Amino acid sequence: MSYIERMRERARDLQQKETLRVLALESSCDDTACAIVENGRNVLTSCIHSQIMEHRRFGGVVPEIAARMHLESVDDVVDQALAEADLTLADIDAIAVTRGPGLVGALLAGLSCAKALAFARDIPLVGVHHIAGHISASYLARADWAPPFLALVVSGGHSHLGVVEGYDQVRWIGRTRDDSAGEAFDKVARVLDLPYPGGPQIDALAKEGDARAVRFPRARIAGAPLDFSFSGLKTAVIQFVEKNVQCQAPISRADIAASFQEAVVDVLSRHAMLAAKQSGMRRVAVVGGVACNSALRARMRRLTRSAGMDLCIPQPLWCTDNAAMIGCAGYYALRSGRVDNIDLNAAAVLDIAQP
Ligand code: KG4
Ligand code: ZN
Repeated sequence: MSYIERMRERARDLQQKETLRVLALESSCDDTACAIVENGRNVLTSCIHSQIMEHRRFGGVVPEIAARMHLESVDDVVDQALAEADLTLADIDAIAVTRGPGLVGALLAGLSCAKALAFARDIPLVGVHHIAGHISASYLARADWAPPFLALVVSGGHSHLGVVEGYDQVRWIGRTRDDSAGEAFDKVARVLDLPYPGGPQIDALAKEGDARAVRFPRARIAGAPLDFSFSGLKTAVIQFVEKNVQCQAPISRADIAASFQEAVVDVLSRHAMLAAKQSGMRRVAVVGGVACNSALRARMRRLTRSAGMDLCIPQPLWCTDNAAMIGCAGYYALRSGRVDNIDLNAAAVLDIAQP
């Protein structure tokens, strides 16, 4: 029997098991994360080694440094997760790992470790799409949350709207044409002299500013009302900052941060509500790092409440990159009978339709 046939058989046996424990790894960007998740939604432990301080002096993530740091911390983070859960590798039934999209060197560090663990223990390995992971954070947030629902996915690399039709199935109905919302936050933060990552910094600074101080542009794409474009907004803010510096009475950085954030929140929330209406979804999830944004959370709460819709925004810990969401997505992939071969490769670009 070949390796993959044996793993498929193992995965079939796991379907009968009452408690299925998945050890998950995530290393697509600047966090080396390991989590152990029981039956998809019960997070026994979630450990994260953040590299933010290393990348901060460069103003953004340096891929080569990220890959090397993942290699250095991946074993430690696995040991830490097992110790915190008071388990050994013998208690783990399957391994889940982010296989893309992301920085390929960074992904390979987590993927190689995951493959080694799965092979050594002779247990199934399942590759997870990073965005499927972010969507699964909503299952961690609420025990009753299940497809179908509309998802607004706003991370560092994605601004997407999709109808989640099943645990392993998303129909995308809107996407960004250029920068993601997270990229816009990070780039605008840089011109405001705020450290990386810019999103949380702008969020904090905006609380002291007036969101109506400057009316920044909201891009509309002809014929594609659910698509996003944030590069025009980003350029408008950068040009405004440059001109503003030369003024007699410059507008405060807090006002610029608040006005920029308002433009992003306005566009994201309007598109999400329109997408919900068009797709007939009464339940909406907002996930990904930008879902930590306090103004976006408040706006989505207000809009969905007045429309009588059910909203799920995971707690900030599950919005930014973590391995618990990968463990959850991996569990549902295994439950649907999906197992990967040991030659599974990392992919910098990966369509979510590809398992
Ligand atoms: O999902 P995530 O942790 O990583 C990726 O998959 O990219 O998202 C990171 C992004 C960064 O652009 C960061 O600036 C943004 O999420 N972010 C925020 C906030 N917290 C994180 N953006 C706006 N407001 C926040 N509070
Ligand atoms: Zn992410």
